Amino acid sequence: MLHTKKRGGLTKVATGIQGFDDITGGGLPEDRTTLVMGGPGSGKTVFALQTLVTGASRGEPGILVTFQESPRQLIEDAAAFGWNLGELEKDKLVILDARIRPSALKSIELYLTGMLAGIKLVSGEVGARRIVFDSLDALLSLLGDRTAERHEMFRVRDWLLEADLTAIVTAQVENDDPFTSQRHSFMQFMADCVVNLQHHPGKSTSSRSLRVLKYRGSGFAEDEFPVRIGGSGLEVGHHSGVALVRSSARTIQQELDEAKGQLRDRLESLNRQVEIKKTELEFLLKTGAKRLRKVRNTRAMQTMKPRRAGSKRRAAS
Ligand SMILES: Nc1ncnc2c1ncn2[C@@H]1O[C@H](COP(=O)(O)OP(=O)(O)OP(=O)(O)O)[C@@H](O)[C@H]1O
Ligand SMILES: [Mg+2]
Repeated sequence: MLHTKKRGGLTKVATGIQGFDDITGGGLPEDRTTLVMGGPGSGKTVFALQTLVTGASRGEPGILVTFQESPRQLIEDAAAFGWNLGELEKDKLVILDARIRPSALKSIELYLTGMLAGIKLVSGEVGARRIVFDSLDALLSLLGDRTAERHEMFRVRDWLLEADLTAIVTAQVENDDPFTSQRHSFMQFMADCVVNLQHHPGKSTSSRSLRVLKYRGSGFAEDEFPVRIGGSGLEVGHHSGVALVRSSARTIQQELDEAKGQLRDRLESLNRQVEIKKTELEFLLKTGAKRLRKVRNTRAMQTMKPRRAGSKRRAAS
């Protein structure tokens, strides 16, 4: 299923990531922005690439704007999963190399303005539906100033709102750095959906996990799910089918509760309308009866009056 229309107008688009589309009830919010955050090597780029490849294979062209890795590197890494980015690049995928050398840059603000205008043109040309800004924080960190960063983040957010594209912005998390943690809080606040990826390298074994932290306008499974990066990309919830079933059941339960709530509201509204109709009827009956009595009285008076006048006339003659 590529698109899932939800109550209230939110449509979801499939990422093609096994398990993720289940725990979110359909995938990413269409035409909105998802922040995929995590430490180095946690799978952010794979997540983003897989979403683009899925879109491209289903007729939704995409754009990958890379701020950290070279396009050649990305194409090579993707080949390990069987994704032929070179082939997709003919008409379904555009990779834009947005890496910059700080020394070659006069102003990041100017660079961003030019870059966004350029992407808009490309997007229109290929009819893009999905876009990825991979490691946007690599560019933002060059600003070195919190206020300027926020200003630029707002600019990217406004651009994305206007562009009507399903977007993924990836950002690298470094746990102990307060400066970047403030940046991430702000990015989370601006995104409609937030996905956190984690990599826990152990002594003998390492493990990965994924957790959806936020999803505006939709319920989602809040558990932390195990993740595996396999031969065909990311797989979520592979260790325990039970966890996935449990969370899917929770999503269904949330939807049922929502439906129950809506039914209750509807019933209340119907009861109220019945009460209003009853009152209206009572009012009409009461005032109608009064009016009827009044009309009868008036008629009676009218029929009596001419008789009296006639009898007076008769008496006079
Ligand atoms: N073909 C593959 N099979 C299994 N695992 C792979 C394969 N290719 C990459 N990986 C794993 O995926 C990890 C890289 O994932 P990815 O590049 O998406 O991380 P990232 O979060 O984007 O990292 P960074 O912050 O450095 O950009 C590697 O560390 C590697 O363990
Ligand atoms: Mg990456």
